[in-house]
Formats: sequence, structure tokens, C-alpha cells
Amino acid sequence: MLKKGMKVAVLTGAGISAESGIRTFRAEDGLWEEHRLEDVATPQAWNANPEMVWRFYQARRRQLLEVEVNPAHDALAELEEGFGEDFTLITQNVDDLHERAGSKRFIQMHGELRKLRCEECGHVCEAMEPEQLKDDYVPCSNCSNQRLRPHIVWFDEEPFGRWTCEAAVHDCDVFIVVGTSGHVYPANNLLPIARHTGSYCIGVNLDPPLNVDFFHEFHQGKAGELLPGLVKEWLES
Ligand code: APR
Repeated sequence: MLKKGMKVAVLTGAGISAESGIRTFRAEDGLWEEHRLEDVATPQAWNANPEMVWRFYQARRRQLLEVEVNPAHDALAELEEGFGEDFTLITQNVDDLHERAGSKRFIQMHGELRKLRCEECGHVCEAMEPEQLKDDYVPCSNCSNQRLRPHIVWFDEEPFGRWTCEAAVHDCDVFIVVGTSGHVYPANNLLPIARHTGSYCIGVNLDPPLNVDFFHEFHQGKAGELLPGLVKEWLES
């Protein structure tokens, strides 16, 4: 279904980083089994119990130093090389594994673990130095605020680049969705948009996601095992 000159958009979720050792959210051993998402991933939680939220994200930020890209991230970077400007990668993931694999044309809808943001002056900074990864709060380097927040989109907050993502999906000829359960709006609405605007929709996921019926083609299994072969086929077609 993929041919040179076609526009390709890809949406990824936690499943693509699972084989790198980053836990997904809704699996039996997922992050939301151990933490109530309303305790750690909402603006209300940050206001009510900033220490708990901070420690949760600092642990996830430190984990980035221990994980590596897997063949699924590599395969999508290769697909981007093949399609160039006709390619857009949208990810719900806040890890940096797509970037490390060499992806360039990507949007991180739910933010980035590597960065922190000041709620006073809006300054966003890359913050991966050892002293910025401890459980102590990190002060803003641009104003007097002593407590930066994670540069993460929490529930009830507006995703980054939402309209750019929707436009890319609206315009694409082929939409590929990898490793997401389809639970979270508005990312889970991209597949129906793609389908209704005439894109060919392909899914790759360990389990059928909630919105599986919107796919023309669904490949069930691990992204790291399936995607390299699929990308090879797509680039050769
Ligand atoms: N390969 C492919 N798919 C996988 C793999 C794998 N190796 N391992 C797990 N999966 C699939 C699971 O079957 C599941 O459908 O990945 C999906 C992960 O789903 P979730 O844990 O719900 O993650 P995601 O869809 O990315 O969550 C969306 O919810 O809490 C939030 O903000 C967080 O961005 C996240 C959003």
C-alpha cells in the first residue's frame, strides 16, 4: 500500500518502547497498576502533592539513562528516511527513543521527560545533568521560581501540536499506528479521522486496541519483531 510520493503519518504509544524496558501504562504490570493516574498525572495532583508527583517523574527521567532504542524505533527512522518530507511521526511517548533512533520529523504530543518547565515564566529547559535528576526540586535558571514542573502533558491539559497532528493525519495517504491501546483522547481520535478522510490504516500492536475496527490491516505481535520486516516490505514496494 505504500508508494513513493505518498504521505505517511505514524502514531506511536507506550508499546513501541516496551521492548526497550519502559513499562506501558495499562498492562497488568503497567504503571497505572502501581500508581493511580489521578495521583501522579494531573495538574490537581501536582498542586495537592507535588513531592509525590516530582519523585514519580524523576524516577522516570532517571530511567532514560538506562534504556536503549529497539528495532521498532530503528525501523520507523528508516521509514522516515525513505519518505522524507512526506513523513510525520506523532508519538504519545515522553521518552526520547525515537529521537535517539534518528527520527527527525516527529511531534511529542504528551511532552518530553528530558525537559522541565517553569510555571512562572514559561521557560523550558533540557535538564538531564546528574544534579537535575535527584529527588530535590530543580530551580528555574531564568526567574526566581524554585520548583520547575515536568514538561509533560497531564490529563486535562492540551497536548502539544494537537492541530498539526490532526492536519498531518487528515492529509496522509497511509496512517500507521503502533503500540497504543487507544484509550486516551485526543490521540485515539486520530485513527477515526484518518479512516474517515480516506487514508489506508495499518495497526501493529501486541493486543487489539480499543479502536481496532478502524484498521484496514492489523498485525498482532511485538513491534520490535514485526516492524522491521513490514518497513522493509513497504520501502521495497
Ligand atoms: N509491541 C507492540 N505493542 C505493544 C508491545 C510491544 N512490544 N507491548 C505492549 N504493547 C501494546 C499493548 O498491547 C497496549 O495496547 O501497547 C499498548 C500500550 O497501551 P497503554 O499502556 O495504554 O499506552 P498508550 O496507549 O501509549 O497510553 C496513552 O496514556 O496514561 C497515558 O499519557 C500516557 O501517553 C500515554 C497515554
